[in-house]
Amino acid sequence: MTELTPSSHPHSVGGRVISRRVFLKGTGGIALAGALAPFLFESQAYGALGTGTSPEQVHLQWGADPTSSVVISWASPTAGPNPIVNYGTSALLLTSTSVPIMKTYTDGISGEQVFTYHASLSGLNPDTTYSYNISDGATPVAGTFPASGVSSFTTAPSGRSAFVFTSFGDLGTPGPPFGATKWGESQYNAYYAVSQVEALAPLFHLMNGDLCYADKNQTSQAEVWRDFGLNVQRSAANRPWMPCIGNHEIELGVTQYTLMGSASNENGITLTGNGAVYSGGSYPQFANGKYGQASYLTRFTVPDNGTGAPSGGGFSGSFYSFRIGSVLFISLDANDVAYQDSGAFTATAQATPSGTIPAGTGVYNRQYTGLLGTPNEDNTIPPGNNVQTQWLANTLENAAADTTIDWIIVQMHQTALSSSTDNGSDLGIRAAWLPLFDQYQVDLVLCGHDHDYERSFPVRGFNHNQGTGITGTGTGTGFERSGQTGVETLQPNPVITDPTVTQFDTSKGTVHLILGGGGTNKPDNTYGGYGSTTTVDGRSVHAAGVNTYTNPKIVAAANKGLPDTWEPAIWSAKTDTADAYGIASFSVDPGTTAGGTTTLTLQYYHAPPAIASGTPPAAPPPPTYSVLETITFTRPRSDGASPVRAGGPPVETPEFANPVLAVAAASAAAGGALYLASRVRSARLVRVGTPPR
Ligand SMILES: [Fe+2]
Repeated sequence: MTELTPSSHPHSVGGRVISRRVFLKGTGGIALAGALAPFLFESQAYGALGTGTSPEQVHLQWGADPTSSVVISWASPTAGPNPIVNYGTSALLLTSTSVPIMKTYTDGISGEQVFTYHASLSGLNPDTTYSYNISDGATPVAGTFPASGVSSFTTAPSGRSAFVFTSFGDLGTPGPPFGATKWGESQYNAYYAVSQVEALAPLFHLMNGDLCYADKNQTSQAEVWRDFGLNVQRSAANRPWMPCIGNHEIELGVTQYTLMGSASNENGITLTGNGAVYSGGSYPQFANGKYGQASYLTRFTVPDNGTGAPSGGGFSGSFYSFRIGSVLFISLDANDVAYQDSGAFTATAQATPSGTIPAGTGVYNRQYTGLLGTPNEDNTIPPGNNVQTQWLANTLENAAADTTIDWIIVQMHQTALSSSTDNGSDLGIRAAWLPLFDQYQVDLVLCGHDHDYERSFPVRGFNHNQGTGITGTGTGTGFERSGQTGVETLQPNPVITDPTVTQFDTSKGTVHLILGGGGTNKPDNTYGGYGSTTTVDGRSVHAAGVNTYTNPKIVAAANKGLPDTWEPAIWSAKTDTADAYGIASFSVDPGTTAGGTTTLTLQYYHAPPAIASGTPPAAPPPPTYSVLETITFTRPRSDGASPVRAGGPPVETPEFANPVLAVAAASAAAGGALYLASRVRSARLVRVGTPPR
């Protein structure tokens, strides 16, 4: 990725007077009112990367302080001559301007160069609506966004304030007639999902990774990103869409074509050949930029995490946090700790415009920000030298001491608690990050990865050795558990298991939500397929697959590996077997009194697939989104006399409102006595030691 400041790139407008007044032309009062409507945008020509310099793929991100800063980003097929943003609080008079920086990268497979622009607007007023337009500065006729009129966005409110945000992951591209091509995982729902964000009109949207699956269309990665950008623009030009890196944001390329040797993974299994692109410092030779993140980092400008620029060995852009009202949002790249690989993998040699990618080539980013520590006695893993986990611990520690922060919400892609029959749960995330979520009372964890909906009960601490090996998975590869019992999965422990309860105090336990139903064509809403349904504490509990081996796919030659172990999903509170698509809306009520209660209400909307017919297919009717469930989360505000998070010691022994394992499952593979013994041993919070400072 190349980043050029206005003063250094050849098309810059550095030195330009930036306080000129810009009067909108040709927009009478009626037309202007229409231009402010959320759905009105000029039509975009989908297709190949195209020509010209007109702004497109417009999307917003929060700046460092969402009450006063917003980043407006866009792309153009070729470099714009004098790109600029005009903005102001009056739609008729855009009195301020912002000159963007330009970021570029060249796709390692197609050789196509991508041009993006990022204008950082600062000094804005809180809770204020700004109008803007974008010009490429071309003469004699400038390309603009919107083609006529203005777009608008609203800054975050200051202090403890009420607001609404939405979230989903795994969006994909819409395909024809909404996009240029039916790419891998294209589905019409990806179009209507964007419309649904606008219908809910949140302050901002959280996009939980696996944005468009460009990596599954390896010779057309930039074109897929363009279709994604044009689709998302219908909402992301009006309000920030805050992303995180999923496994499909890791892309292959062949720009630095050298062969790797062999290496051993954490299980002591030797990985040979080109597939040994491994963590801990090896440069991913076949990746699209360092760690395969070039496209993602070029297209998004998120709040700085202070670890330094990627060009200098830092990880700015890969994970971040921002604050809205009394809520701290922490966006993580779970590739860094997950055991599953990215899926950027070729089992057989693949010819590309830039050369041949050898068979077995993959990118595995576990521990790419540094090696995690030596596992603790209880099989959790301390931060060690992993920069992201150190940053997470520090960020959480600071948040816990801040009496103006009530809620801590984590966004990441891969899943620690999922019982889908696709990816399932990942032990790597459980071992490295769940102890921190426990210690600092993270309220919600919003994920994607499995294309479905699942809500956990509040969980705190672990039950040990509750897994059973899945027979047949990885046979002959060294990754076979073969029905082994007592496998360590760090089974999350629910603090309540009553399925009729719809209100939870998240200071008692963290709720994990799988929101992977953005819009892809691959529904994952079947659950429990890797193991048996068991009876636990008098209730029927389905199985959850758990990935307990690191980097299994290199040997198994399958994307992302497959779960090798199952455990009773005692933590699973709600699944959606009816519909795979959906969007979550969260409404924050900050409360009115110091030390009182603040509430956060989840409404999850689900939708059926959008079905089209004909050749070429006609636009299908929009699917109807309906409320699947409404859940209220509460917690004590942090500004009371005895704040439950700030200033207190880590929670050590939570009181279980409804102990779930007092009666062992008769069908538990390891037998009742062992099950009970495990429950007693694990009825404490696993600590992670002293977090780094
Ligand atoms: Fe994923």
